[in-house]
Amino acid sequence: MNTRRQVVPALAALSTALLGAALLGQVAAGGAGAPAAAATPSSLTFDAQKYTLGSVVVDGRTVQYRAYENILYVTNPVDRKYQSMNVYVPVQYFAGQSVGGYTASTAPIFLPNEVGGYMPGLPGTPTANMGGDAIRAALAHGYVVASPGARGRTGKDASGRFTGKAPAAIVDLKAAVAYLHFNDARMPGNAERIVSNGTSAGGALSALLGASGDNRDYQPYLKALGAAPASTAIYAVSAYCPITNLEHADAAYEWQFSGVNDYEQLKFAMDTDYKMQRTLVKGTLTAAQIAVSNDLKAQFIPYLNGLHLRNGAQPLTLDASGNGTFRTYVASLIRDSAQKALDAGTDLSKVTYLTVKDGRVTDVDFGAYARSILRMKTPAAFDGLSLENGENDEFGTATVAARHFTAYSQQHTAVPATQADPLTVKLMNPMAYVQAPGTRTAAHWRIRVGTADKDTSLAVSAILATTLRASGRSVDYALPWNVPHSGDYDLPELFRWIDTAVK
Ligand code: DHB
Repeated sequence: MNTRRQVVPALAALSTALLGAALLGQVAAGGAGAPAAAATPSSLTFDAQKYTLGSVVVDGRTVQYRAYENILYVTNPVDRKYQSMNVYVPVQYFAGQSVGGYTASTAPIFLPNEVGGYMPGLPGTPTANMGGDAIRAALAHGYVVASPGARGRTGKDASGRFTGKAPAAIVDLKAAVAYLHFNDARMPGNAERIVSNGTSAGGALSALLGASGDNRDYQPYLKALGAAPASTAIYAVSAYCPITNLEHADAAYEWQFSGVNDYEQLKFAMDTDYKMQRTLVKGTLTAAQIAVSNDLKAQFIPYLNGLHLRNGAQPLTLDASGNGTFRTYVASLIRDSAQKALDAGTDLSKVTYLTVKDGRVTDVDFGAYARSILRMKTPAAFDGLSLENGENDEFGTATVAARHFTAYSQQHTAVPATQADPLTVKLMNPMAYVQAPGTRTAAHWRIRVGTADKDTSLAVSAILATTLRASGRSVDYALPWNVPHSGDYDLPELFRWIDTAVK
């Protein structure tokens, strides 16, 4: 109650300031090579008056914010529930005050998506259990938070057609980013400092969003949705355990887990009450699966060598058996992680794949590491031969539930199946867009994958990180010790990184 009264006087002042700024916004949007502003439907204009007030308690401190919820970020939505965004702004920014050294015009826009499993993701809220932590902490830290929803692989319309297959999720996130650029002058927060965040499939989308800014491949999809005519580029990416580079992820998985024939898989299923049922399924690969593993591992070596990766001056390569400097590099990331844990007092004496001498982690046996964490996926880990994986589903169409997306799995399919077209597969892979002509790849990257994460090979993030570094991006890449497949577990460090990156 009080809160509202306190912020209303400030509102009048801000509205006046925004009036002039709004004009600038039109000029900026038009100046970016976009159609004239007059052609833009007014529904994409941010309405600063349409808000509710909310508050959350963060570390014992009350954080008050304006909530602009369920903003439709396209004019021709396919799914209004998911193609909308929640924007939260610390109230201080409407009173000319600063938070954490930021003001209404300098605050970065933190852009968390809540996508998991390539399923539809709703816009996040500060009060939610899932994802709410990061939003609450970001508001307390002084960021403007914009959390876009995105369609996903299971979404359907009234006639039963799928509406969220690839590339729907990334197109939606791009449309949300375009909305923020288009409305930059009308909204608190700096759209030139958008920092996306996501975990797993959401981490993959965060990385893809950062890799492919303004690339033309996405334009027809954005146009069809009636996205705002503005840039889709972002400034920085935070990606936790990204399940990405999907068409090479099967091969990468077998490179890492070749010879590890026991698996332990958590199967998720929805029961009728929409509660997740988790069951641990243990098993051993069959001879046929081991043959597939060998084929896929063999494919990884020419793929990796063809990337011509480097760590500094050192070329990262693999020999015919999958050993070499790339493997040593990945092992060194685990070593660095273990060293940090050791320095922080963690007991590593029972970790059999490490060699520790006089307080130094001197060696990591990468094969023993893989055997110790165990594989959780069976080959092919992503493009399942029976179209059984979420990723098969992701590459379906409006009328086909699931497809293959690699030549190998198509050729070895166990069920009648078709293969996704190359453009759709490309549209989902950040590796295709780093350094692509006409693309504004984000300048700053933070990638985290725990050493206990076996949802995808460590090679996937190592390849992405080294490729980004070679393209001149600043990349903070590390494997936190013993952390499983998860995200948002080190928000103070993430925010320190953002604060440094935006300066
Ligand atoms: C996620 C996890 C996976 O193992 C996968 O293959 C795809 C997505 C996830 O948690 O989002």
